[in-house]
Amino acid sequence: MTIDLGHHGDTEVGAGLIDLAVNVRHEPMPGWLADPIKESLTQLRAYPNDREATAAVARRHRREIDEVLLTAGAAQAFVLLAQALRGARRPVVVHPQFTEPEAALRNAGHEVGRVLLHAEDGFRLDARLVPEEADLVFVGNPTNPTSVLHPAAAIAELARPGRVLVVDEAFADTTFRDGVDGEPESLAERSDLEGLVVLRSLTKTWGLAGLRIGYLLAAPELRERLAAAQPLWAVSTPALAAATACASPTAIAAEREIAARVAAERDHLLRRLAHVPNLTVAGTPASAFVTVRLPSADKIRLELRERGYAVRRGDTFPGLGPDWLRIAVRDTAITDAFVATLTDVIEERL
Ligand SMILES: Cc1ncc(COP(=O)(O)O)c(C=O)c1O
Repeated sequence: MTIDLGHHGDTEVGAGLIDLAVNVRHEPMPGWLADPIKESLTQLRAYPNDREATAAVARRHRREIDEVLLTAGAAQAFVLLAQALRGARRPVVVHPQFTEPEAALRNAGHEVGRVLLHAEDGFRLDARLVPEEADLVFVGNPTNPTSVLHPAAAIAELARPGRVLVVDEAFADTTFRDGVDGEPESLAERSDLEGLVVLRSLTKTWGLAGLRIGYLLAAPELRERLAAAQPLWAVSTPALAAATACASPTAIAAEREIAARVAAERDHLLRRLAHVPNLTVAGTPASAFVTVRLPSADKIRLELRERGYAVRRGDTFPGLGPDWLRIAVRDTAITDAFVATLTDVIEERL
């Protein structure tokens, strides 16, 4: 069966359904973010100028300005990489992961190799599985859909002279570890690793999927090659205003608080799921979603829709299949109601 790499959770939500399928946070926008976006609407006559936002992002990650490229969501960065690096001979995507990197590579004419991590190993990264000749490697950290957070050192080991190593950190801001100041296992500040490209998204935690804003961090020469593939004025003025606001100390402090809350709500979800018959959780989840394995998950997903819940199908991720589902972490009341319904659906099928 060919896998539909273009399938995304947003097509699974619908009127009247509680959305556990899309990993975008559902909270009102804080004033420090909404106000500059609104204010930017008074400047739409001018072409976008990314200087301030680029400097703010560089400051946030302790990088130089010429190491930052703002993009129309992290998704645009996949396309820039695929197009600018057409000369790559052995591109490899570490799966299961977000399907757009592979889709962008294939659309640009690349032949893509898949490295499959295994459920039995908790979907942990095994650097030995990545072929030595791979000259363009995509890995997610934390990984969508498995929610597994690989150690930064294990990812850094994949860097090589002559290889571009793309680490998709779209969900890094959702990760949290007690006693750690900042995002555990992020490589965003590492300018010393040859060929490293870190991708970041601002659409998840800040509920900005419709605005399209993200960025990449890379050495100046590589950043320049990627920028040359980008359409002119790719990032709109409101999106730039959001990027500046989301790089501020206020935003970073808010992100850390949200990540701590997500961790507590995820633990609650995991405690509830532990009592659900026939269900196992993939790996050690570390982000705002968890992936579970249960027999006939494809049928259970349809039954859940009948009862008001949208969850993300697992069969469109290489390395998973019809027995997998991804569930977003929501507040404890939604989780409790959802898990009760899920349990009913499973028990009725036993
Ligand atoms: C792992 C991962 N990376 C990147 C993206 C793209 O995010 P953006 O909205 O910034 O384009 C997504 C969106 O679902 C994702 O799940």
